[in-house]
Amino acid sequence: MKIGFIGLGNMGSAILRAVAKSGQHELLFSDHNADKLAELVVLYKGKISNNQEIAAQADVVFLGIKPHLVGLVLTEVKEAVSKNPSAVWISMAAGVSLEQLAQFLPADKLVRMMPNTPVAIGQGMTTFATSKAENAQLFQELMAHSGQVKQLPEGLMDAATAIAGCGPAFVYEFIHAMTSAGVQNGLSVADSQLLASQTVLGSAQMVLETGQHPAHLRDQVTSPGGSTIAGVVAMTQAGFQAATMEAVNAALDKTRELGK
Ligand SMILES: NC(=O)c1ccc[n+]([C@@H]2O[C@H](COP(=O)([O-])OP(=O)(O)OC[C@H]3O[C@@H](n4cnc5c(N)ncnc54)[C@H](OP(=O)(O)O)[C@@H]3O)[C@@H](O)[C@H]2O)c1
Repeated sequence: MKIGFIGLGNMGSAILRAVAKSGQHELLFSDHNADKLAELVVLYKGKISNNQEIAAQADVVFLGIKPHLVGLVLTEVKEAVSKNPSAVWISMAAGVSLEQLAQFLPADKLVRMMPNTPVAIGQGMTTFATSKAENAQLFQELMAHSGQVKQLPEGLMDAATAIAGCGPAFVYEFIHAMTSAGVQNGLSVADSQLLASQTVLGSAQMVLETGQHPAHLRDQVTSPGGSTIAGVVAMTQAGFQAATMEAVNAALDKTRELGK
């Protein structure tokens, strides 16, 4: 298949890395940054192209531009799109709905996806919405090397964006804070960062593998009157849970605003 990428910034190039792993596809790249394109061509054996050519020739197009540019770019390629109506378009633009995309593209050829940056190392959490089962199957095949992929009703995509799309930043803030506290208590930055990040990784893996509620797993770490419960109480008093929920809800509000 010919797969085109329009916009190869942070997210577009992370998706490219996952999609290219199968080694089965012809890849076409379009972005403003010539140096980045030259680098990607060497890394992934693709071809430098442009938006018109991709819209006219590709079987699948990943749209990796910022949400406010989607209308502009799709207006520019409208004629090329009409000559290649069987192409499937996959948009990663936060907050941009299938209905909005269908103003420019065939409605039955659309996938709205919400990836996150760990896709680049095969540990992403990607959600997607589409109205057609064949688009869902194609999308899951293309993303097979990206991490976990889950289809959702479109009405839940903004909520998914606020958790999984924005979530890595929230988790990095947590790892940063843990690392700083370790340094404050005498650990080197490198050791503290290793301890904090492996603890997050292992704890997340425990939740996924056991399927148990995080509160239940937390109880297994907190012996009565011990040091862990003292830390958990301090977190609660400092508003950690409320701050985390506020972060997700602020991200959700902003996602909805961006899609307007
Ligand atoms: N970053 C994340 O964690 C994340 C997570 C989930 C979803 N997303 C979504 O992914 C999309 C891209 O976000 P990003 O963070 O990757 O942004 P980004 O790093 O700014 O990447 C966008 C790229 O598109 C290029 N571009 C702009 N206009 C173009 C055009 N007309 N034709 C071809 N390329 C063009 C930009 O080049 P210039 O900068 O030179 O203009 C830039 O390299 C957004 O819609 C965002 O909502 C991002």
